[in-house]
Amino acid sequence: MPIDKKFVDFFHIVSSQAALASYKFVGKKDKKAADKAAVDSMRAELNKIDMQGTIVIGEGELDKAPMLYIGEKLGTLNGPELDIAVDPLEGTNFAANNLPGALSVIAVSEKSNLFAAPETYMDKISSNISEQGVLDLDFDVKKNIYNLSEYKNKKPKDLTVCILDRPRHKKKIEELQKLKVKLKLISDGDVSGALLVTNNDFGVDLFLGIGGGPEGVLAASALDAFDCNFQGRFIFKTEQDRFRANKMGVKDLDKKYELKEIISGDSIFCATGVTSGDLVSGINIENDEFISETLITHKSAGFKKIIKKKVKI
Ligand code: FBP
Repeated sequence: MPIDKKFVDFFHIVSSQAALASYKFVGKKDKKAADKAAVDSMRAELNKIDMQGTIVIGEGELDKAPMLYIGEKLGTLNGPELDIAVDPLEGTNFAANNLPGALSVIAVSEKSNLFAAPETYMDKISSNISEQGVLDLDFDVKKNIYNLSEYKNKKPKDLTVCILDRPRHKKKIEELQKLKVKLKLISDGDVSGALLVTNNDFGVDLFLGIGGGPEGVLAASALDAFDCNFQGRFIFKTEQDRFRANKMGVKDLDKKYELKEIISGDSIFCATGVTSGDLVSGINIENDEFISETLITHKSAGFKKIIKKKVKI
């Protein structure tokens, strides 16, 4: 059953209030405090909503996180059963150092339609083409770039690829350089990185590389509403990570997950800017009001827009 339209407003309030809460810590060199402010705010706002919400992606498992832990029930417990994935502050370094790109993010689906991703890395690829077989996690960089170049009728030198600037991507980055592709190297924030393929105005043709698994699921839920492409495969560093993931219900640990296996049915996604970045502007305070910008999608309504909102503080 589709999620009622009124929930879009409710979750918009949740992400914008969390962004405002962490905004108070922007540039204070304290990422824990900035994150905690967003977590506290999100939890309080979620508990006001008439729903039976369950956190499937949050701050970790109960033994690690006292709030917004995986399995935590939220809302008044009257209303629809919803699965909730949150990243109250995505880009904690950005917020702490007053750099562009910090976001407060929430994704909500009908019950049992959102993948409960373990706290581990994920190899990801996203693009704004929905055809199967053009891009694939299993293809090497060269094949993906040549296929994309042919599909878009653009030379590789005119394609832009977004990737996290990490030593683990050295080989991929060198290959992209050899192919003369334009790079957009990001220092953090790969939810936003993956979403830059959603609109030609962002000038990104392809996102790839390894980042957080939970961040992959959050990005996938918005990409679904944009009819974009996403694939992800978990990467486990230790046997203990594999064990934990298995315990969380991930049966095939080495599987390549397609978008529809990560998110299905109806969903709502809200990402509010804390500091201004490529995707959305950050919080702006004027007198007794705060202005926020949020990328909102509601799959069943075909709604996908950046919304600016002024609210009294
Ligand atoms: P935080 O907001 O938790 O600091 O995460 C930022 C981030 O850049 C994510 O966007 C990304 O998925 C992940 O960290 C990458 O992890 P790592 O810094 O270990 O490469």
